[in-house]
Amino acid sequence: MDQEAFGHLLAAQNAAGTTGDILELGSYLGRSAVLLGDHLRPGQRLTVCDLFDSEAGDADNAAEMTMSYRASLTRSGFEANYLAFHPELPTIVQAPTSVLADGRVPDGSCRFVHIDASHLYEHVAGDIEVARRALSGNGLVVLDDYRSEHTPGVSAAVWQAVFTGGLRPVLLTPMKFYGMWGDPEPVRRVLLARDWRAEGFTVDEDTIAGAPVLRLNNALRPAARRSGARRLLLDLLPPVATRSVRRALGALRTWRRPGAQRA
Ligand SMILES: C[S@@+](CC[C@H](N)C(=O)[O-])C[C@H]1O[C@@H](n2cnc3c(N)ncnc32)[C@H](O)[C@@H]1O
Repeated sequence: MDQEAFGHLLAAQNAAGTTGDILELGSYLGRSAVLLGDHLRPGQRLTVCDLFDSEAGDADNAAEMTMSYRASLTRSGFEANYLAFHPELPTIVQAPTSVLADGRVPDGSCRFVHIDASHLYEHVAGDIEVARRALSGNGLVVLDDYRSEHTPGVSAAVWQAVFTGGLRPVLLTPMKFYGMWGDPEPVRRVLLARDWRAEGFTVDEDTIAGAPVLRLNNALRPAARRSGARRLLLDLLPPVATRSVRRALGALRTWRRPGAQRA
């Protein structure tokens, strides 16, 4: 889903003649970087920043690296994957993302920033500030893991940026938050111009503190068909009885299965 959303938004920027570079904070073995590289136009630069196989700058980040990435992550692995899809490597900054605060990414030079590095609040808050400065007025920032149970620091940094830092949500998917500091209306129109439902997605509109935001998700597969009599029975009975009937039907199914043990 996010692959589709990235592709749609980046292609729309290209079609509209939006220029600017692309920046990724946290690239791991290159899955999202390869996709970002697909949308570069001549003269535009993709910069990726990742620790890869170097040490983290603080103990919490080092623990995060050991737990999630150390076993598989090397810079050469990233490079090999990227070069399997593109003729040239992006600009690689092998360092903590905090180094990007030194101004090496010129202010207003980017049209798209993907933040997917540390999940710790302090790091993500810094990454959002890097994105804010790097993005041009109509540029987009995408933040991964803004609502996962194991990443409350990302959620805190994202919603803090919304409520105190002028970040405006545009699109929410189960994994990623898409926002901008400029006017979100043209991006909403670009998103609504696509018939996502025909492709098996759901699109919903919400408002957050009076501002509209879109939500994109996968449509649920239709429930397995039930026989008419079973459906009627389950619809008519009160919930407690319905649970008993479900249990009884489940036990019956198990008992009928060839080789199943009778309880
Ligand atoms: C979730 S992975 C990135 C996944 C990648 N975007 C993708 O879609 O495949 C997170 C990456 O962030 C990097 N990382 C974690 N903390 C970092 C930090 N403080 N500075 C730079 N990179 C960091 C890790 O090395 C890891 O490669």
